[in-house]
Amino acid sequence: MRRRRRGPEQGGGAGAAGRAGSLLIVRVDGEELVTESGQTVAGLLLALGRVSWRTTRGGGRPRGVFCGIGVCHDCLVVVNGAPDVRACQRLVRDGDDIRTQDGAELPA
Ligand code: FES
Repeated sequence: MRRRRRGPEQGGGAGAAGRAGSLLIVRVDGEELVTESGQTVAGLLLALGRVSWRTTRGGGRPRGVFCGIGVCHDCLVVVNGAPDVRACQRLVRDGDDIRTQDGAELPA
């Protein structure tokens, strides 16, 4: 038997996010979308044609995916009111409310 490694932001892997390929309803900046499970928030945003979804604290410069492996923190988004979620590490879950992040935000 092989064990799956689960990151803290995945919250239980595909089981918690639904079966890969099953349909989910999420909101992105207030727009309700139907999408498939098994993808990261970054994957969803890229599929929507977005290349940036947060701004830097200092200069308000646009950021999106840079490393894609959870190291650089360029891809931060607000998910269900929680800021600083790495979009490249977080699987989309049914009912997620995903919002672009403006600079540094404090938890709600
Ligand atoms: S793209 Fe680098 S942490 Fe997500």
